Amino acid sequence: MPEKPKVALGADHAGFPLKEKVREYLVSKGYEVEDTGPTTLSRVDYPDLAEKVAARVAAREATFGVLVCGTGLGMAMAANRVPGVRAATCNDTLSAHFARCHNDANVLALGGRLVDPATAEKILDIWLSTPFEGGRHQRRVEKIAALNQQHNSEKKK
Ligand code: RB5
Repeated sequence: MPEKPKVALGADHAGFPLKEKVREYLVSKGYEVEDTGPTTLSRVDYPDLAEKVAARVAAREATFGVLVCGTGLGMAMAANRVPGVRAATCNDTLSAHFARCHNDANVLALGGRLVDPATAEKILDIWLSTPFEGGRHQRRVEKIAALNQQHNSEKKK
């Protein structure tokens, strides 16, 4: 992992206010942030922003993605459709800890309607400082990737 991970950021209207706070916090901590939008509170569909951020992470143009919707649920569901992405909804610090060290999650989905900015900062601190443990967890993460291939090739039969 590079010294300061690059973070791609995105939200829908429900996550927009927290996304703005997250960007300010990450920039203040010296992280390089690519904000993929939106830039206003107008209604947008979360899968569109999830795809933008997930694509940046899958292409390794960003180390991590952070997506904010109302709950963090829809964003994670959509981002996980992009191969190579392991998105986790973490609205508490313990989930963030295990998402990184056991699941090697590379996209954090936050609930803008559930998490206040101070809690989001704590979640981000844990997320960005917790390394993947590897070992037995590596095999399990590889099995997640294999599920993608398995089910796509079954469809083609
Ligand atoms: C938008 O109202 C809301 O459904 C969305 O932000 C998100 O929570 C979906 O998972």
